[in-house]
Amino acid sequence: MIHQKFNSLLKTKWLGQNLCYDECVDSTNKVAKQLGVKNAPNGLVVLAEEQNAGKGRLGRGWFSPKGKGLWFSVLFRPKFVPEEAPKCTLMAAVAVAKAINKICGVDAKIKWPNDILLNNKKLVGILSEMNAEYGKLNFVVIGIGINTNVDKSDFPDDVKDIAISLHTEATKEFGRELLLAEILQELEIKIEQAEKEGFENIFQEWRQMTCTLNKDVKVIAQDETYFGRAIDIDAGGMLIVERKDGKRVKVVAGDVSIRSVN
Ligand code: BTN
Repeated sequence: MIHQKFNSLLKTKWLGQNLCYDECVDSTNKVAKQLGVKNAPNGLVVLAEEQNAGKGRLGRGWFSPKGKGLWFSVLFRPKFVPEEAPKCTLMAAVAVAKAINKICGVDAKIKWPNDILLNNKKLVGILSEMNAEYGKLNFVVIGIGINTNVDKSDFPDDVKDIAISLHTEATKEFGRELLLAEILQELEIKIEQAEKEGFENIFQEWRQMTCTLNKDVKVIAQDETYFGRAIDIDAGGMLIVERKDGKRVKVVAGDVSIRSVN
């Protein structure tokens, strides 16, 4: 990452104006949370060329080889109640997908709640975490991992066939600095919008950009696995699934994995 270039491209008011950059960290989410409890400023971005213990959802790892992706976390201190924090993950997916599509000339889609897919393969993973006390949200950390230059042969065997990287798909030339600057700008706009008017319009954009709705899905929860059709998301960002017996259930992000079955 070329700092000078990034600084000249960054158009935000506060998001990313403080950047903590390292060659290698265990996990940028972990670093951001550690800085968060030490009063790190609103809008801090932690960026690393490589992570040696990148964290994924559901206790998985995240492959983050040196210089081959954008591995970063943003920390912000929104004026929401803690119950609203999960909505930030859908919001982040909208901002990231919009920026990628604009800068790279692709048509990435969001898989509920916040994976970003290209040609049905995973391009971006997002891991949101929060620090809260009863009734008080201290900060949210949104970790974003984008495969920009990972070659197919670099990916570990278990993800080789389901992961994709931007460098083979982009129809426009782009640099990582420009993509990061655009993502931070979109995200800043969305955070301010959510604070001002709530999440409804953002969720409307999410609906336009998702590939999950109106599809048959397999829901893999901790204690059961079932099939159904993804109908919509509710006001909290939960996925409404109509089971085969017609019963509608709400699926909470974080506890489940969903697979498209058509
Ligand atoms: C997923 O499982 O899909 C979420 C992956 C999130 C990966 C990113 S990379 C930057 C940040 N730091 C981490 O340790 N994880 C997130």
